Amino acid sequence: MTFWQRLAKNKKPFLVLAPMEDVTDVVFRQVIEKIAPPDVFFTEFTNIEAILHQETSRLVYKKTKIPTVAQIWGVNPESFYKVAQLISDMGFLGIDINMGCPQRPELKIGACAALINNHTLVSEIIDAVKKGTKLPVSVKTRIGVKNIQTEEWIGFLLTQKLDALTVHGRTVKEMSSVPARWDEIKKVIKINTTSTVIVGNGDVKGVQDASYRAQETGVDGVMIGRGVLENPWCFSDHISTREEKINLLKRHLELWQETWGDKKNFSVLKKYFKIYIRDFEGASEMRTKLMENKSIVETRSFFLISELKQPR
Ligand SMILES: Cc1cc2nc3c(=O)[nH]c(=O)nc-3n(C[C@H](O)[C@H](O)[C@H](O)COP(=O)(O)O)c2cc1C
Repeated sequence: MTFWQRLAKNKKPFLVLAPMEDVTDVVFRQVIEKIAPPDVFFTEFTNIEAILHQETSRLVYKKTKIPTVAQIWGVNPESFYKVAQLISDMGFLGIDINMGCPQRPELKIGACAALINNHTLVSEIIDAVKKGTKLPVSVKTRIGVKNIQTEEWIGFLLTQKLDALTVHGRTVKEMSSVPARWDEIKKVIKINTTSTVIVGNGDVKGVQDASYRAQETGVDGVMIGRGVLENPWCFSDHISTREEKINLLKRHLELWQETWGDKKNFSVLKKYFKIYIRDFEGASEMRTKLMENKSIVETRSFFLISELKQPR
């Protein structure tokens, strides 16, 4: 039994942290694991050719109890095969193929969401990954390119003997501009006569919301992306305090320095200020001050200085 099947059997819905570029790196995953973990983590999407050229910072893995899935993208089945072999020994418990990213550079080379209209290549890629690994293989995708193609496209994917399939309920053209179509995700459950585990994705902000969507549609799991950017505790019912939020950013800074040092651009780190420092009195002023910092060392000393200034 794969971890996907175990989760589908034991917890309805199980919850998944969505893959998000420049967000769900190993540091963020460690931070979230400590406070309110989901049932599955995904990495950021990672290009297969970059992996073959040893650029693997996106696939840094630290031991965790939460099954973590490496998400990869590309076009060449042979490279997919080699990468699947490499990933098999890194600690990840699954490999996911991105067939949903709507960004132009990826589409231009026929990768990610451009695969939606290339069934032959999709079969070759899935077969290549399966040949390269014993880990469960999954796909994350959208419901169509210009129009809704649920029956045709998702129906096709369901013939590919995938272990899991995440469906983001929007077309490529829709980007994020319309509410996610959970009625289409419900349709996926109706047409699925296979053992592929189905994860629904789109606009879910927290646990309650996820339960409601699962009851309504019958999905096995629910994936949350932007919800965690608004509330890092979204995989629980916890209502966080100002102190907890600030401490979380401090923890992130500490782990970031330990993990990346100056290997990653500081501008990427700045994104997290907005994730943690929000929704409390004075948050906006604090964020403005934080944004003036130019390095991790400066940012960490910002907090040390503010602590020294606190009356005792
Ligand atoms: C900042 C950001 C980065 C993303 N990067 C990825 C990615 O690397 N791979 C992927 O499959 N989807 C990516 N997505 C899409 C999300 O995984 C998810 O499908 C989408 O945000 C819809 O879910 P939500 O409404 O819960 O946010 C990204 C989304 C955001 C907001």
